[in-house]
Amino acid sequence: MGKGLRKGLTSYGDAGFSLFLRKAFIKAMGYSDDALDRPIVGITNTYSDYNPCHGNAPALIEAAKRGVMLAGAMPMVFPTISIHESFAHPTSMFLRNLMAMDTEEMIRAQPMDAVIIIGGCDKTLPAQIMAAASVDLPAIVIPVGPMVVGHHKGEVLGACTDCRRLWSAHRAGEIDAEEIEVVNGRLAPSVGTCMVMGTASTMACITETMGLSLPMSATIPAPHAERFRLAEASGRRAAEMAVSGGPKPSELMTPAAFRNAQVVMQAIGGSTNGLIHLTAMANRAGVEIDLEAFDAIGREVPVLIDLKPSGDHYMEHFHHAGGVPKLLRELGDLIDTSALTVGGGTLRDVVAGAEEVPGQTVIRTPADPIKPIGAMAVLRGNLAPRGALIKHSAATPRLLTHTGRAVVFDSTADMAARIDDPDLDVTADDILVLRNAGPKGAPGMPEAGYLPIPKKLGRQGVKDLVRISDARMSGTAFGTIVLHITPESADGGPLALVRSGDMIRLDVPARSIELLVDEAELAIRAAALPPVERPDWAERGYARLFYDSVTQADEGCDFDFMMRPKV
Ligand code: FES
Ligand code: MG
Repeated sequence: MGKGLRKGLTSYGDAGFSLFLRKAFIKAMGYSDDALDRPIVGITNTYSDYNPCHGNAPALIEAAKRGVMLAGAMPMVFPTISIHESFAHPTSMFLRNLMAMDTEEMIRAQPMDAVIIIGGCDKTLPAQIMAAASVDLPAIVIPVGPMVVGHHKGEVLGACTDCRRLWSAHRAGEIDAEEIEVVNGRLAPSVGTCMVMGTASTMACITETMGLSLPMSATIPAPHAERFRLAEASGRRAAEMAVSGGPKPSELMTPAAFRNAQVVMQAIGGSTNGLIHLTAMANRAGVEIDLEAFDAIGREVPVLIDLKPSGDHYMEHFHHAGGVPKLLRELGDLIDTSALTVGGGTLRDVVAGAEEVPGQTVIRTPADPIKPIGAMAVLRGNLAPRGALIKHSAATPRLLTHTGRAVVFDSTADMAARIDDPDLDVTADDILVLRNAGPKGAPGMPEAGYLPIPKKLGRQGVKDLVRISDARMSGTAFGTIVLHITPESADGGPLALVRSGDMIRLDVPARSIELLVDEAELAIRAAALPPVERPDWAERGYARLFYDSVTQADEGCDFDFMMRPKV
């Protein structure tokens, strides 16, 4: 039996009075003693008018509450910060750690025996799971689920891989102003998260793989009735966990679970952002994510899911093909099925329950993969001493080994000002370089790594060129794009030393990225750089905390004082 309303009483010598006071206040809501005597399941509410991805949160909360009450416990809904990708200035990543802190402290502060976490838009599940790992109270995740697909002129559309592709077509003059407005209304036809294999889908698949949510929770479309039944079932399970006291996140977020998550991330053609979030989650759980190990997993795990941006389909098709349980079955020995799940069993039970769908082509077999090796590779070299990441499954194969002349942009503002300048000295063989766009640089490591194709090249029909930066990229983007160059330029990384006209060599098969300038010259340039100082934007408030404490991409961009020592 959980402690219910008695949990965390600050008695100051008279626990009876503290409980009396607590009950006196909460009874103002009309609760009976019977209701208040039960185990309590907290439920996060991240509904916001600014967050269409979480537009179904109120209905999911209702369904989860129903499940909690059917199982005899008491649901208590509480608000936390809500973050949407498009409405989070300067970036949603800047706010992820704030959401993690808010969620952690609200779970700690208020009496609850278990917690249901409802979220989904890119940074929210990582933030919420980071929080849950730190509190270590029994927790179950209900992702809000992906949007259903849109349609335009007989073509299937998805946010926001097709947002980018069609906007590029508009920039190149192939789609006129009137039609692009029509398309705008068809890219996100329902509430829910982006329905390609972007960051939200990646994190939902990882969450399910790690056993933090019930089977099929990653893929059921957001508006489907099945998702609300999943929420009800999750509510029931949370009520059981409130009584039994487990499993706790620490029992689920084990080295085996994190390894499984990395396997799945490669196999789904997951978002590059997923690696940063997974690292941050692991750091909260005291587990190490090693970049070389992640790269090694990528060399042995095939991409099996045929979803945009690496493939052709969308999350609802993945769902109807059998979802994550079927994927785990296909991955066979690459997955450690002894890992526990929040449902009370192991991944073995999940795999055993996987549905076989005759004729489906979205979840491939290792014998017939989308790509024989994983989606992402870790690069190193004099430009990225602590690593960089490329999603080569969504890149142009011939550009994966390429030497080109650097065209450097000093900041996102510099890029915006010059990228479409007809006089910009750039060719299709050049390498676009963006810097000062890392965790501290921009700040909040914006998704600026997908540098647009300069207009004059776009008009010539150029669809891709090598682009490198210390920024992140939307998981929904396509291109030969090197990201997360670490350390970032604003923190003294060598990316700060590149000059337009320098030669850079990208060699993905060899996992290297090199600036072809001799060391003596680089030392002279390094000596001439201004010292790293706290910028004006970081003088006060959360911005100051962020600037002073945020770690680099290889450490998950969490605050340095939030991590748990490694076990
Ligand atoms: Fe919310 Fe894409 S904008 S998941
Ligand atoms: Mg995104």
